Amino acid sequence: MKQRMFFVPTLKEAPKDAEVKSHKLMGRAGLIKQLAAGIYTYLPLAQRVIRKIETIVREELDSRGCSEMLMPALQPRDIWDESGRWAEYGPELMRLKDRKERDFCLGPTHEEVITAAVREYVNSYKKLPLALYQIQTKFRDEMRPRFGLMRGREFIMKDLYTFSENGEDLDYWYNLMKEAYTRVFERVGLSTRIVSSDVGQIGGDTADEFMVMSEVGEDTITYCTSCAYATNQEFSGLKAGDTCPECGGTIATAKGIEVGNIFKLGTKYSESMNATFTDRDGKLKPIIMGCYGLGISRTLMAIVEQHSNDDGIVWPEEVRPFDVHIVPVQYKDEEHINKVNALYENLRSRYDCLLDDRDERAGVKFKDADLIGVPIRVVIGKGFADGVVELIDRRTNETREIPVEGLVEALSSLI
Ligand SMILES: Nc1ncnc2c1ncn2[C@@H]1O[C@H](COP(=O)(O)OP(=O)(O)OP(=O)(O)O)[C@@H](O)[C@H]1O
Ligand SMILES: [Mg+2]
Ligand SMILES: [Zn+2]
Repeated sequence: MKQRMFFVPTLKEAPKDAEVKSHKLMGRAGLIKQLAAGIYTYLPLAQRVIRKIETIVREELDSRGCSEMLMPALQPRDIWDESGRWAEYGPELMRLKDRKERDFCLGPTHEEVITAAVREYVNSYKKLPLALYQIQTKFRDEMRPRFGLMRGREFIMKDLYTFSENGEDLDYWYNLMKEAYTRVFERVGLSTRIVSSDVGQIGGDTADEFMVMSEVGEDTITYCTSCAYATNQEFSGLKAGDTCPECGGTIATAKGIEVGNIFKLGTKYSESMNATFTDRDGKLKPIIMGCYGLGISRTLMAIVEQHSNDDGIVWPEEVRPFDVHIVPVQYKDEEHINKVNALYENLRSRYDCLLDDRDERAGVKFKDADLIGVPIRVVIGKGFADGVVELIDRRTNETREIPVEGLVEALSSLI
């Protein structure tokens, strides 16, 4: 990819309303552009990383027997009346009317739509279990949209729903999804902590949240300094210094960003929406459900928050937007350009490369490269005339001079 046409509009100044490091950096590095409060355009660089995150999510879910589908964002009122949530949901629900004055909403979540789809089909235990998910844009008119992608009014979520014949099977899926989420967050480079949480709006019993520990998080986690006990303060009401209910140890608090959560929904939606099946004894029963959300766009922001310094982002291995950033100190004069392009074409056949083909000063190019944060950089400078380039590993800041003939081999040991 050639940078001139790739559209990475880097900025000297962070967006005015940006309070946290990741929001500032995402604006400066040309990842996102705000359109209205809590509503963002994902520019090409962000879109590349989002695709990588989504691929990891798909791999971890598909390999565990889940199926991807895609539901409508625009949803008619009637199914929300059935579940009772048209009345329950406050102003966070984005409501609108069609030309015939019928009520619709833009989906903040999809329990109603999925239950309406599954109930038509599942009538017997023989058609269970099901584990269905989608990756989709969600709409919530949040009271305080802020911190960029952290709390948006339009955001990308992976939402998954399981349908089981009994509690044992629900437990099986719940634990399997806990494992899948753990793997997803490991692979995208986030260290997370699992905390048990309030069940809030959705209703049901057990719930766990996946938290990225961070000062900019909006949730407060109460955890034990002696054992594994950890809860959302919203749920436990504990304070720092309190006694741990599990082991008698001391409670401490920390801030966290909720990147995912999993719920045992039970029969809330299947009962209200009449999604029933005939079980093994011939009895009619409501299907037992679970739901599992993972914020894709919030995960992107949490990655930037955890993997950056003052100069810019340093993308974790599996979500890097490119393998190699090729930065020629100058990109003028036809003969030189041809030589640089030849090296680019050679590397491009093996790696995903970004070539800085802009006619800009070296200082500008290096600053932008630091901001963008591709982990491996090849600088084409003075030594190029003698067949030497510079190889920089952003993760360690190790810099080496490498003969052009040895470049592919040197890269293969790093990538
Ligand atoms: N306004 C938002 N902007 C970006 N991501 C969000 C937003 N709301 C929720 N998410 C993401 O979607 C996931 C699943 O949504 P869910 O409805 O379970 O979240 P939630 O409990 O409302 O989250 P929060 O407590 O942060 O509002 C969350 O774990 C989070 O990663
Ligand atoms: Mg919420
Ligand atoms: Zn304890």
